[in-house]
Amino acid sequence: MDVSDGERREAPTEPRVRPARPEDRDAVLAFCARTWSDGDYIAEVWDDWLGNQRGVLLVATLAERPVGLVHVRMLSADEAWLEGIRVDPAVRRQGVGRVLTSRGLVAARERGAAVARLFTMWDNVAAQAMFGAFGFTRIAQVTYYEAAAEATAPASRTATCDGRASACRRVGGRAGSAAG
Ligand SMILES: CC(C)(COP(=O)(O)OP(=O)(O)OC[C@H]1O[C@@H](n2cnc3c(N)ncnc32)[C@H](O)[C@@H]1OP(=O)(O)O)[C@@H](O)C(=O)NCCC(=O)NCCS
Repeated sequence: MDVSDGERREAPTEPRVRPARPEDRDAVLAFCARTWSDGDYIAEVWDDWLGNQRGVLLVATLAERPVGLVHVRMLSADEAWLEGIRVDPAVRRQGVGRVLTSRGLVAARERGAAVARLFTMWDNVAAQAMFGAFGFTRIAQVTYYEAAAEATAPASRTATCDGRASACRRVGGRAGSAAG
């Protein structure tokens, strides 16, 4: 953010937030590689999010270096979806996520949103604490089911009729995952 003469200048280490630029990609993907133990999906959506004319992809910087991002998607004229909020693991717990959330909500409001929604994993304590402080409340919870593909059918034929065997039959003898 530019400031005119006489206004207080931000300390160089204070996070700033601006729309993402194509040249941010490498720096963002570098820290996103450490988001989860199996990486992240940001590389797959970067071009789509960067080119989103209805929403905006925001990047947080510290001393000009990209250290965080969030994508604001407009689901309808008055409903926004916040997604992909990420902070470089090296600078977490320094307020970057909070600034990104705040600016993301401002961007959503500027685009007409009256409500903002998001999804986070049930065990993501950090995200839930952060979003909760902004007034987000839980409206639904997803439960994942998973089974090994090769084990289900034989087990259902040979198992005694306990609860687990019944459960296998109820998914048709096929393994898979379901959310509900
Ligand atoms: C969630 C995430 C974006 C938070 O970013 P951050 O810059 O570390 O967050 P902040 O420093 O602004 O902290 C804001 C608040 O979030 C909560 N918080 C952040 N990290 C936390 C942690 N490890 N444990 C508990 N609460 C935490 C706290 O309430 C914190 O406020 P406080 O410092 O006054 O206690 C960051 O941990 C991250 O990138 N995680 C991996 C990606 C992810 O989980 N994204 C959300 C998926 S929807």
